[in-house]
Amino acid sequence: MIDAPTSARGIVLIGAQWGDEGKGKVVDLLAGRCDAVVRFQGGHNAGHTVIDDGRTRVLHLLPSGILCAGVECLIGNGVALYLPQLFKELESISGGGEKRLFISPGCPLILPSHIALDQARERHAGRGRIGTTGRGIGPAYEDRAARRALRAGELFAPREFRQRLRSAMSLHNFMLEKYYGAEPLDPDRIADQWLGMAEELRPMIDDIGIRLRRLHAEGGSVLFEGAQGAMLDIDHGTYPYVTSSSTVTAGALAGSGARLEQIGEVIGVVKAYTTRVGEGPFPTELNDETGEQLAREGAEFGATTGRPRRCGWFDAAAVRSAAQCASVGSLCITKLDVLDGLETLRICIGYRFEGRNIDTLPPFMDRYADCEPRYEECEGWQESTCGATRWEDLPVRARAYIRRLEELVGLEACIISTGPAREQTVIRRHPLGH
Ligand code: IMP
Repeated sequence: MIDAPTSARGIVLIGAQWGDEGKGKVVDLLAGRCDAVVRFQGGHNAGHTVIDDGRTRVLHLLPSGILCAGVECLIGNGVALYLPQLFKELESISGGGEKRLFISPGCPLILPSHIALDQARERHAGRGRIGTTGRGIGPAYEDRAARRALRAGELFAPREFRQRLRSAMSLHNFMLEKYYGAEPLDPDRIADQWLGMAEELRPMIDDIGIRLRRLHAEGGSVLFEGAQGAMLDIDHGTYPYVTSSSTVTAGALAGSGARLEQIGEVIGVVKAYTTRVGEGPFPTELNDETGEQLAREGAEFGATTGRPRRCGWFDAAAVRSAAQCASVGSLCITKLDVLDGLETLRICIGYRFEGRNIDTLPPFMDRYADCEPRYEECEGWQESTCGATRWEDLPVRARAYIRRLEELVGLEACIISTGPAREQTVIRRHPLGH
């Protein structure tokens, strides 16, 4: 019996805003103490930045644990897999990371025609566009839901793979040509290219659910690495301006095959302010000099697309709601140092909606654009917090700001990040104990 539950040593780490909260650094910080890191949703639309030995690395598809020797890295069935990106990233990290990497045969494959469709659709939508990363994520998940996706495990039956790919791509090409007026793609050329990668992929293919449940039975610790953020969740986010996967905690189970009892703690990562890339409502957005300052100090450019991120004040109402629906138990607050030197800080404590005050998100997210933020102000600090490692060393007003965020969200902040490097961190409580 391999499934006998032991005490839960699983941590789910998810973004509790609109993505880009700095999850890569936190995963990297915790991964060294874990036996495995697993990605369970999204694809190479993610951009997890990790500073490794003074080098900045951006991982889009590989679990961030790949940079920690000895840590098993798992890609669960919920991840949309773009094979050229997988091999490109494996090559860039070198050092035999592929021997520690295991991929579910159930991962839906992203094909070049998904990317073409994503981009054609965005062009066609004009002002109604979502502002996607253009990586084919939406169309690939659509095919999964329509039960015509090609999945990683199918690559090992070449004849059937080619046939199914032709069939899926005949629909893709029909839409590309007839609806979007774009160029069709050659299915046989893509089949050749994808089948040509099969042998290199084969040793990595494994049942991720079984691996996770075995680790659990043996008392191993697992980090579930979320991508994007709860406000971009397909069900609970600011629909339709969302990504196409389940970014909340439930996605960690569905997208990996882990047991519920495996999860001991859910950490929500948030920036000390808010950013958003792409279109969609953003009540606390700052279209002024302060917004520009946050963007400059925080180097707020998308790690995947290089697009400038929209910046605004911390939205406690949004984080509180996101944390509720994602079962978040504690917070990790990143980029505190970006606020250094601001005279006054504002925190959104709720909204004005249809003439009344509300403290949560509106019942229908398509009305979110009608929510006016209600702010409270607090004094900023002039000292530098950059690189601080001890709570006592943070300026009094910075501590007061964090305490107020904790109070408003209703959760403790166990980790506070004060700079991009691993060591620039205040750990008030280590999620994996001492
Ligand atoms: P898609 O995931 O490429 O379909 O994009 C849908 C929405 O999610 C767009 O607003 C993107 O900017 C946003 N998005 C996707 N991935 C990320 C991410 O890793 N960080 C922040 N936003 C993201």
